[in-house]
Amino acid sequence: MSFKIGVLTGGGDCAGLNSAVKWVTKTATDQLLANHRGEALEVIGIREGWKGLVSVDPGDPESVARWIMPLDELVVRTWDRQGGTILGSSRTNPFNPKNDQSRECLDHIAGLGLEALVAIGGEDTLSVAYKLHNLGVKVVGIPKTIDRDLNATDYTLGYDSALNVIIEEVDRLRTTAGSHSRLFVVEVMGRHAGWLALEGGEAAGAHVILIPEYAFEVARVAALLEHRRLAGVRYDIVVVSEGAKVAGQGEVYLSDKEDGFGHKVLGGIGEYLAKQLESTTGYETRHVVLSHIQRGGQPSARDRLMGRYFGIAAVDLILEEDFGRMVSFRNGQITSVSLKQAIEKLYVVDVDTLYDPLRYNGRRSSMLPWSPKSE
Ligand code: F6P
Repeated sequence: MSFKIGVLTGGGDCAGLNSAVKWVTKTATDQLLANHRGEALEVIGIREGWKGLVSVDPGDPESVARWIMPLDELVVRTWDRQGGTILGSSRTNPFNPKNDQSRECLDHIAGLGLEALVAIGGEDTLSVAYKLHNLGVKVVGIPKTIDRDLNATDYTLGYDSALNVIIEEVDRLRTTAGSHSRLFVVEVMGRHAGWLALEGGEAAGAHVILIPEYAFEVARVAALLEHRRLAGVRYDIVVVSEGAKVAGQGEVYLSDKEDGFGHKVLGGIGEYLAKQLESTTGYETRHVVLSHIQRGGQPSARDRLMGRYFGIAAVDLILEEDFGRMVSFRNGQITSVSLKQAIEKLYVVDVDTLYDPLRYNGRRSSMLPWSPKSE
C-alpha cells in the first residue's frame, strides 16, 4: 500500500520548522520502515501554509509547480540546519469570515490526493487544522511558536532559538549601556504570553521584566531602577514583552490593520516606555526592538532536536490513524494531545507562581510559599 501526505507550515516563521519537515519526510519515506510496516508514504510540501492549499489548482501543472514541492530524503537532506521555513508561510485563514475559502481547501486536499495532512503551526494554524478535522480531513499538528503560548505542550518549535537571540543581544547591549551609563529598554515578542520576556529576561539577567500577564506602573519601574542606581549600578536593562500593558491602558499597536485571524500588529511599548522612563528618572535611555530578529537565524540544538522528534511523532500518528491530534512534549516525553485541547486556551505565565509583582521580575522562591502581599 502507498499513500500521499501533505505538510505545510503556517503563521509566523521560526527556527526549527525545516527540521520538522525534514523528519516528517524522512520518517514517512524511509525504506526500512516502509518494509517493516508494509506501507510506503509519499510526501508533498505545500508552499506558504493554508494560502498554498487554497490557491493551488490540482488540475493545472503550472499551478501545482508553483504551490507544491515534492519532498524526499535528498530534497530535505540539509534542511534541519536552516532557519525560517523553506516551504514558506502565510497568515491566510481559509475560515476567515470576511473571505471563506474552506471549500477550496477541502476540494484541493481531495484533488491533490492527500490521505493525510501535517500542519505545523501555532494557535491560528492549528485552529484551522481543527476545523478541517471536524470536516473529515485526516490531519495532525506539530506545535510551533516562539511565543510558546500553545496549550498542552511544554515545548513549541522556535522558542529556544528565540531565547538565545534575546540573551545574545542583551549581552551586546550591556557593554554599550555600561560605557554610557544608559538605560536600555529591550522589546521582545510575545503577543499574549510573556514567556520570552520572562525567561529571556531571566537568562539575560534583566533588572526589570514586564509581561502581558501583569499590567505594570511606570512609576514603579522607575523606582526599581532608581534603587539600583543608588546601590551603585551604572546601567540597566529592562526587558518588555510587546504585549505588555501599562496599568489602566491597553496594548500598544504599530498598526490597526488586521490579519486573516483578526490580529493587529503589536509593537511600540518599548519606545513608549523608554520615553516615559527617561522623563521620570532623568537617565539617558535608549530602546531596542528585537522584533523578527528573534525568529531568524539558525536553529539551536534544541529546536533541531524537537523538530526531529515532533516530525517523527507526526508520522507515527498518521500510521496509527490517530487524527485530529497535535504531537506534544509533556513531562519530558513526546506524546500527543487533541487539537481541541491544544487550541482551547492559551498557555500564559502563571503570575502567582512564576512572577514577582514587587520586583517586576522572575520569582525568587520556587519551593517555599511566598506572598508579595505580605511584604
Ligand atoms: O505569533 C508569533 C509572533 O512572532 C508574535 O510574537 C508576533 O506578535 C507576531 O508573530 C508577529 O507577526 P508578523 O510576522 O506577522 O509580523
